Amino acid sequence: MTPIKKIGLFTSGSDSPGMNAAIRAVVRTAIYYDIEVAGIRRGYEGMINGDIVPMDTKSVSNIIQRGGTMLKTGSSEQFKTTEGRKLAYDQLKKNNIDALVALGGNGTFKGAKEFGEEYPDIAIVGLPCTIDNDLRGTDFTIGYDTAINTVIEAVDKIRETAESHDRLFIVEVMGRDSGMIALRTGIGVGAEAIMVPETRSDINALFERLEKGRKDKTSKIVMVAEGDEPGGAFEIGRAIQEKYPNYDTRVSVLGHIQRGGKPTCMDRVLASRLGVAAVEALKDGHTGEMVGLIHNSIMFTPFGQSVKHLHDVNAEFIRIVEMLSL
Ligand code: F6P
Repeated sequence: MTPIKKIGLFTSGSDSPGMNAAIRAVVRTAIYYDIEVAGIRRGYEGMINGDIVPMDTKSVSNIIQRGGTMLKTGSSEQFKTTEGRKLAYDQLKKNNIDALVALGGNGTFKGAKEFGEEYPDIAIVGLPCTIDNDLRGTDFTIGYDTAINTVIEAVDKIRETAESHDRLFIVEVMGRDSGMIALRTGIGVGAEAIMVPETRSDINALFERLEKGRKDKTSKIVMVAEGDEPGGAFEIGRAIQEKYPNYDTRVSVLGHIQRGGKPTCMDRVLASRLGVAAVEALKDGHTGEMVGLIHNSIMFTPFGQSVKHLHDVNAEFIRIVEMLSL
């Protein structure tokens, strides 16, 4: 096994709070082991364009507490083509990069898998960074804890005004294909109902839930993941208003505030642990895998298996919401 000499590090796809803490951990661990490290800016697009900058201990000072990503991010249509990946490979070779650490989610790992199969001389490992917490191979993704804390802070405020006005709020949270944000925060805010894309939720089931609830409740919160089938929060709001003209209904879409903000301590620690593990994994000859944390231990999952798991909703969570929102 030839020792790794230079790691290229990049963030790709949607940003998530804690990416900077992971960047810091990868850079400093590489330096600790005398491995050179370079930052590839703007994900796969930057790799194709050779947007590559040297990184040292100082370049990652004071970033552990910041949301976003200092390396910038985005997706690349060009990288989905064999020609695009060839251009990226040539740039890596030109910059003497012999290993990669990819920070991102589903789309990032799909790209990493194809690239790793086409160019096995460049080792590549991934770190799970997405607020959606929708990857196999890790209990939690980097950014999820911060996002759910942002959500409960916002919805606690919504609850206060809902209570004052005797209103029903439909709150839409992120999760195009995943209800993990809606599920946990639904429990955390004491929601009356949760609607997630992984389970068949129809509007009549929601009406039933609302009818079952205590009649003297003055406020109600329905948490909806943006990808839920009956449509987004506005669709649901319209349907509720039609069925129950007496409910004073309001809709609140939390949107991209969920993607920003200072990472929580849990996310900083997760990012630091996984960042260290990624560099050590490359040193030990790992490639084609995502580094995650399962039951508090570092685990490796092949990229092909780490992609989104759409139907694994914890039924216990739904049951808890139904039991506790009496
Ligand atoms: O992947 C995270 C995520 O937050 C999804 O839940 C959401 O649908 C998506 O990003 C939106 O991202 P953008 O607005 O950047 O396309």
